Amino acid sequence: MKDVYILGIESSCDETSCSIVKNGIEEVSTVILSQIDIHTLYGGVVPEIASRNHVKDITFVIEKCLKESNLTMDDITAIAVTYGPGLIGSLLVGIEASKTLSFIYDKPLIPVHHIAGHIYANNISHDMKFPLMCLVISGGHTELVYMKDHYNFEVVGKTLDDAVGECFDKVARVVGIGYPGGPMIDKLSKIGHDSYNLPIPKNDDSFDFSFSGLKSAVINLYHNEAQRGNTINKEDLCTSFTNVVVESLTSKTIKALKKYDCHNLVLAGGVAANSSIREKFCELSKKEGFTFSYPDIKYCTDNATMIAAAGYFCYKLGRRSELDLNGKSSEILN
Ligand code: KG4
Ligand code: ZN
Repeated sequence: MKDVYILGIESSCDETSCSIVKNGIEEVSTVILSQIDIHTLYGGVVPEIASRNHVKDITFVIEKCLKESNLTMDDITAIAVTYGPGLIGSLLVGIEASKTLSFIYDKPLIPVHHIAGHIYANNISHDMKFPLMCLVISGGHTELVYMKDHYNFEVVGKTLDDAVGECFDKVARVVGIGYPGGPMIDKLSKIGHDSYNLPIPKNDDSFDFSFSGLKSAVINLYHNEAQRGNTINKEDLCTSFTNVVVESLTSKTIKALKKYDCHNLVLAGGVAANSSIREKFCELSKKEGFTFSYPDIKYCTDNATMIAAAGYFCYKLGRRSELDLNGKSSEILN
C-alpha cells in the first residue's frame, strides 16, 4: 500500500508547530516554536500577542519542517490542522496557512480536534491498544475519554470548572514560581513534604472532576499564613498540592476503568508530563492489572506531530473540510 504522509499544523495556543508523520505512527520531522518566554512576562498567555507571533512564525515553521523532512509538497498526501478548541485568533493562523497549502497544492484538508491530537500523541512510535481509557489532562481540559476503537470517542467524565493544568498554573502564580507552573511544581514537589492539609476535590462516585475549590484552598492558605506573618514553605505546598491532584485523578480513573471493564489506560496533554502522576499510575497498573502508557514528554505539550498522527486516522475515515473551514474556540470532542 502507498505510504500516507500527513503534514500537520498546530497553532491553538502559544506553540506554532508543523510536523510530517508517515502512516499515522512514524514521525518524519517536526518543528515547534514556543512563545513561553514571551508570555512569561505577563504570567499567562495573552491571546492577541499569541496570534501575532503565530503570523510571524508560521511560514518559517512550515518551510523548516519540509526542509528537514527531505520531502516536497508533492510527497504530502493531505494537510491536517487543529480547528478547535483553542484561542480563536491563534487557531485562525494555522487554519489559513493550511487552507492555502491545500488550495495551492490541491491536497485534502483534514480538520483535527485538539484533544484528539493529544490522545493520538500515544500512537506515535507504537500502536494504541483498544478498548482504552484516556485521561486527558492539559491546560484547558480534564476529561476521561473511553475509546472502543480508532476515532471513537466517548467522554465519560470531565471537569465541572477549572482544568487541572490551569490549577497548576494558578497555584504557581500565587506561590510566585512563574509560568507555566506545572514543570516547576513538579520539580519542587519532589523535595518537599506533605505537610499542608488540602481538600480532595469532588471526592465522590462520579467520573467528573473539579479543581477550582482546590485552587481557592491554596490561595486562601497562602494569604492566611501571610496575614499571620508566617511564610509558606513552597516545596511542602507543592508536594501537598500534587498529592491531592494525584489522588483525585487516580481514584476517578480507576473507578472508570472498572465500570467500563477496560484494561488499557493512556495519558494525554501537558499535565501528563507530571512525574508524580506517571509514577502513581505506573504503580496502580501493576497492582490492578491494566496496561499503562503515556506519550514521550516532548509529545505531551502542544505539538503538530500529534495533530498529523490523529489526522491520518481522520483521513482514513474520509473526513475532509472545504476551504470555508473556520476555527472553533470551544468544541465537543469528535
Ligand atoms: O497540553 P498543553 O500544552 O496545553 C493545552 O492544550 O492546554 O498543556 C499545558 C499545561 C500547562 O498548564 C502546564 O503547566 C502543564 O501543562 N504542565 C505540567 C507539567 N508540564 C506541563 N503540569 C504538571 N507537571 C508537569 N511536569
Ligand atoms: Zn493542548
